[in-house]
Amino acid sequence: MSPEQPPASVDLPATHTAPVVITGATSGLGLATARAMAKQGIPLILAVRNMAKGQEVAAALLRSGVRVAVRRLDLANLATVKSFTDGLIEDGVIPRAIICNAGVQTFDRLQRSADQFELTMATNVLGHVALLDPLLSHMAPGSRVITLGSETHRGGLRAFGFPGARWSNMDELLSPTEPAPHAKDNGLVRYSTSKLACIAMAYEVDESWAARGIRAASFDPGLMPATGLACNYPNIVQRIYAVAAPLIARLPGANSVKISAENLAWLATSPEAEPLMGCYVAARKPRKSSPLSYSP
Ligand SMILES: NC(=O)c1ccc[n+]([C@@H]2O[C@H](COP(=O)([O-])OP(=O)(O)OC[C@H]3O[C@@H](n4cnc5c(N)ncnc54)[C@H](OP(=O)(O)O)[C@@H]3O)[C@@H](O)[C@H]2O)c1
Repeated sequence: MSPEQPPASVDLPATHTAPVVITGATSGLGLATARAMAKQGIPLILAVRNMAKGQEVAAALLRSGVRVAVRRLDLANLATVKSFTDGLIEDGVIPRAIICNAGVQTFDRLQRSADQFELTMATNVLGHVALLDPLLSHMAPGSRVITLGSETHRGGLRAFGFPGARWSNMDELLSPTEPAPHAKDNGLVRYSTSKLACIAMAYEVDESWAARGIRAASFDPGLMPATGLACNYPNIVQRIYAVAAPLIARLPGANSVKISAENLAWLATSPEAEPLMGCYVAARKPRKSSPLSYSP
């Protein structure tokens, strides 16, 4: 993701007519962020794996009079990521911001992507790297990249007891061997490790591209129990979680999806958020991430 070639449109500042690409705009935080940006008249490209769901979301957003396009992107299938980026470049549709929002969380069973990589790392990290890599050199100065971090990368109390990241190396994380059956927290560790990588990815993009005017930050939305992220949990856990969601949402460190979406839309597009580029951001303020996240 380094700037080996000069950007194709170095003399053009990122304009307000260029769209914002948001991955995973069909549910939870992505959907609410798309709504928040549409309300402000920001043109959008919904990058979604389920076109029917994407078209439904777009139809509702179009009523606000904003420009909305839907394009297919399955982050767990690298061929579709390439078709997506090739399509944007061929059509000359270069985003002013890319919000790497889509994400999955598995439970204990190891699942693999279409390319046979571990599903969490493939979706949350590798797919987004493959998305950014060809687009960054085309983006204009003033453009932004936002990745989705999470306090789970740190683990412990601030992460509501979620197990923290266990980093090894990317090859091992993408192609792990089947975990022992008793290792119930494997899926959760894979998730927190993917979030560590998402934070580090934002730092890396920012460091490599800031000189060309393209900035990046990582956003922690806080715990939002009302989204679909726990949909791979066992049914009983999901039912308990759903009942407890209104209470959990009031705890410190938790947030409503609406407030997190407004903050994410602000971070991706507001001139006021420029000083937060290069940072891990929660509720419009910079926050230190774990020491490991700063290592290249
Ligand atoms: N919820 C929380 O407490 C929390 C806390 C911290 C960070 N986050 C982060 O916030 C982001 C959004 O999560 P959420 O809570 O809003 O979850 P969500 O409701 O499950 O939404 C996830 C979105 O990602 C999409 N997606 C999943 N796999 C994909 C793939 N292979 N290709 C393209 N899109 C894919 C889903 O599409 P479909 O509609 O087709 O399933 C959905 O639109 C994630 O990055 C998550 O890690 C969430």
